Amino acid sequence: MITLGIETSCDETSASIIDSGKNILSAKIFSQADIHKKFGGVVPEVASRNHALKIRPIVEEVINDAKISVNDIDLIGVTNSPGLIGALFVGVSFAKGLSYTLKKPLIPVNHLTAHILSGEIENDDLTPPYAALVISGGHTHLFHVSKSYAFTLISKTIDDAIGETFDKVSKTLGFGYPGGPEIEKNASFGDETKINYPIAMKNELNFSFSGLKTSVINSYNSEKYTKEDISASFQKIAVDTIIHKIRLASETQKISKLVVAGGVACNGYLRKRLQSELKNIRVFFPSKGLCTDNGVMVAYTAYQFFNKRIFMGFNSKAFDRDENIKLF
Ligand code: KG4
Ligand code: ZN
Repeated sequence: MITLGIETSCDETSASIIDSGKNILSAKIFSQADIHKKFGGVVPEVASRNHALKIRPIVEEVINDAKISVNDIDLIGVTNSPGLIGALFVGVSFAKGLSYTLKKPLIPVNHLTAHILSGEIENDDLTPPYAALVISGGHTHLFHVSKSYAFTLISKTIDDAIGETFDKVSKTLGFGYPGGPEIEKNASFGDETKINYPIAMKNELNFSFSGLKTSVINSYNSEKYTKEDISASFQKIAVDTIIHKIRLASETQKISKLVVAGGVACNGYLRKRLQSELKNIRVFFPSKGLCTDNGVMVAYTAYQFFNKRIFMGFNSKAFDRDENIKLF
């Protein structure tokens, strides 16, 4: 089954063609990162306009690259929530038009669901039930995923998302956007024991990063530490926090498999520590290209849900919030 996946929820216009679930025929991403860099973050209106410019060319590109014709497409998946509403509209409108013209089914895909299922694409051993941690620019959410893909939220951030915190710390330190890779690079030259930041809400499953963000800004303003030491100490406590919360969650529910997905899961230091310190839990990471926003995870999720007959109506809209995560 040839599936087209379209992703436009934030600042990446992305499309992919996959065959029979895991066979990636083509995957393309147009990243707007350089466009938004000069603003220090994503400007929603600018993102929407660039999606509108790129959506058709990128879909044509993956069709050509996959050496198929547009009529060979059997199924279309598109991210419809959550995300920047104007950005989502571009992908959803385009996908609806294509679906209508080709008379092929359209599956609206929740962005978090897609990030979670991205872990399955390269790991045949990863089948539900499992726990899933989405760590991205917009989310820090821990879910239980049942055998039939029912998603139960275990905990989430009550304020800033972890990726957003990497981005804000990076901005404070004068590094570029997106901040995660910059912090990781600078942290490798720093001493992570220089500053002892605390884990927020230690006895609760929910996450909180806004206090940490303020503490990091205060450390920087004190002029006592190098940017590298601040980066390393911040990155260490961010990862300490994740390990601590996962351990806490596993005290009350059995976690034997955990998938960690979303842009922050690209972080090599985080990958190493979670793999080695979460004993008795098999930790799965998608490859780095599948951690950040991409069309492959959207196509794969659409394919899985089509097989399981999990549909949403063709009249479904784009949503900027993740209220329908329970459904998808
Ligand atoms: O999943 P994603 O591409 O988009 C959202 O759905 O938000 O995640 C983007 C986030 C940004 O906050 C970025 O700074 C972060 O992922 N990120 C990283 C790394 N690479 C990307 N954070 C930490 N370390 C990295 N190496
Ligand atoms: Zn994402």
